[in-house]
Amino acid sequence: MQTKKVGKQIFFLHEVDSTNNLAKELAGYGAVEGTVVIAETQKTGRGRKGREWCSPKGSLYFSVILRPECDSCEVVKLVFVAGLAVAEVLSKKYGLEVAVKWPNDVLVNEKKICGLLSEMSVAGEKVNYVVVGVGVNANVDVVGVFPESLRNIATSLEVELGRKVELNELFRALLESLDVFYEQFLKEGTGKIIDKWKKYAVFLGHQVIVVDEVETLKGLALDVDNEGALVLKLKDGTLKRVFVGDVSVRL
Ligand code: BTN
Repeated sequence: MQTKKVGKQIFFLHEVDSTNNLAKELAGYGAVEGTVVIAETQKTGRGRKGREWCSPKGSLYFSVILRPECDSCEVVKLVFVAGLAVAEVLSKKYGLEVAVKWPNDVLVNEKKICGLLSEMSVAGEKVNYVVVGVGVNANVDVVGVFPESLRNIATSLEVELGRKVELNELFRALLESLDVFYEQFLKEGTGKIIDKWKKYAVFLGHQVIVVDEVETLKGLALDVDNEGALVLKLKDGTLKRVFVGDVSVRL
């Protein structure tokens, strides 16, 4: 593999509870940076906010252990590194019209094709490790296989391309892409990464609803700034920076 760090060591499993869980365990035992855990299926694949990540055979589920030497507020921006890496592969290698949704979804035709779950271990200011989990719906017939609640909001490479993809090829391309943007993140920080990510951010300039744990905000999505915050223009004209939440676009 033509990578500097990502994928230098790969653990392949047929089945696991969650690749993120195993990657965290391995990281705790000192696994080297760039170690990847990939599984054919997950019994309890996890999404953000404790949601389940539906993980039938045929798609990609993997987690990468990273050990960047920066403080925790920089590390939260790794979701943009991963989102950009996935968006570039899906658009350049598979010719799909890809969109990203703040903070960490990748969509095709307004439906989710990839989710990212980044988890970190910190000691004070210092980051021990970050695990970036990537789930890409690949060779899955969404309508036939996914629960009804997901059928209208999820899609897959098979659905969008009308054919199955070679999973090994997809996996390799994703690791190489992650490696390139991770190196850029280490050398230059996130400025250029977020700028490139914003080229896929079709929600910018639209009215959105952002739901977080305490409130629901409505406003015009103006920007994603260099801190990774979503900048909203509220009805009364004030600007609000949002750091966590789920966005839906009001069309
Ligand atoms: C989300 O959109 O809510 C995030 C989904 C992340 C799913 C991936 S699949 C591989 C890794 N292992 C997990 O348990 N979750 C992530």
